[in-house]
Amino acid sequence: MTRRYKSHPPAAKARHPESLMMSHAYRPEWSEGAVKSPIFQTSTFVFRSAEEGKHFFSLAYGLLEPAPGEPRGLVYSRINNPDLEILEERLCLWDGAEACAVFGSGMAAIATTLYELLKPGDAVLFSEPLYGGTDHLLKKVLVRWGVQPVAIRGGKAAVQIVAEKILGPVMVVVVAHGSH
Ligand SMILES: Cc1ncc(COP(=O)(O)O)c(C=O)c1O
Repeated sequence: MTRRYKSHPPAAKARHPESLMMSHAYRPEWSEGAVKSPIFQTSTFVFRSAEEGKHFFSLAYGLLEPAPGEPRGLVYSRINNPDLEILEERLCLWDGAEACAVFGSGMAAIATTLYELLKPGDAVLFSEPLYGGTDHLLKKVLVRWGVQPVAIRGGKAAVQIVAEKILGPVMVVVVAHGSH
């Protein structure tokens, strides 16, 4: 196996993002010349050796820092997958973002982000009203782990009120512009 799907995407050419959405971060030679990326219906990827597999897992779990320009290698679709990586690269391009992570659902994205950023003793500022699942996660689940949710209701006094209520460092601010 000489082809690795995961590699740094080709540099964005001098085209508009609308055009680049059709091709960015995909090379037909990675997929037998297919113009569009196939849908990879696999959970798992083959390693050239046990050592390579160990190395890819270590990179995926942050146990090792990749060398400059080193591709991370495909491991397991829950961690990385060619289609998801292409989507992430295109969303980065579209938003002008440094990095992107896509998830199977909205709550998976929100919960994973909060779990990654928060630890006991931290506070989360959030606008109200929030989507019900996020509201429940903040007020009923994370509080059990020592994270303090603090609602921001806006207005000039909001910062002062918030400052008085907060008991720990603010690590996350959740702002929603819509609710159900
Ligand atoms: C603002 C907001 N956050 C989170 C979610 C949860 O998304 P999912 O149902 O994909 O977990 C939704 C779903 O409608 C939403 O509208």
